[in-house]
Amino acid sequence: MQEILIKDLKDLDEFAKSFAQRLKGDEIILLEGDLGAGKTTFTKFLLKYLGVKEDVTSPTFGIMNEYEGRDFNIYHIDMYRIDKFDLSDIIGKGLIIIEWPKEKIEYNNVYSIKIEPLENDERLFIVKGE
Ligand SMILES: Nc1ncnc2c1ncn2[C@@H]1O[C@H](COP(=O)(O)OP(=O)(O)OP(=O)(O)O)[C@@H](O)[C@H]1O
Ligand SMILES: [Mg+2]
Repeated sequence: MQEILIKDLKDLDEFAKSFAQRLKGDEIILLEGDLGAGKTTFTKFLLKYLGVKEDVTSPTFGIMNEYEGRDFNIYHIDMYRIDKFDLSDIIGKGLIIIEWPKEKIEYNNVYSIKIEPLENDERLFIVKGE
């Protein structure tokens, strides 16, 4: 487990950059944290460092957005409005990022990142896995 204090968007950018370097493209990242914690914002910064040129938006209404990164595809899923999502078609085919994960996922390369809002717009990122 790793805890990272993110004081501002510059810290978030640095963390996203270093986290992007760890990824091979077959991982699942579970993003936990309340409404407005910063799950989508972290995803945007991370995808920038994975070579995604498009604008990254919240997939809440589309459920899943797919992006082409420099080295692999990225599937961004938001489960806020759904209880189940069948990952079988995409697992291992790219990086999977899930906001509001609801199910336990039996898979080797799973990271969980919990974002806890602190005072003064700071956040604590609690990273588990790998
Ligand atoms: N590290 C940060 N520092 C400062 N502001 C941030 C940070 N992360 C996110 N924000 C701001 O907080 C707001 C909500 O962020 P975001 O949409 O990423 O949250 P979310 O966790 O995806 O919410 P939801 O549960 O609705 O999907 C945005 O206006 C964003 O700019
Ligand atoms: Mg979001």
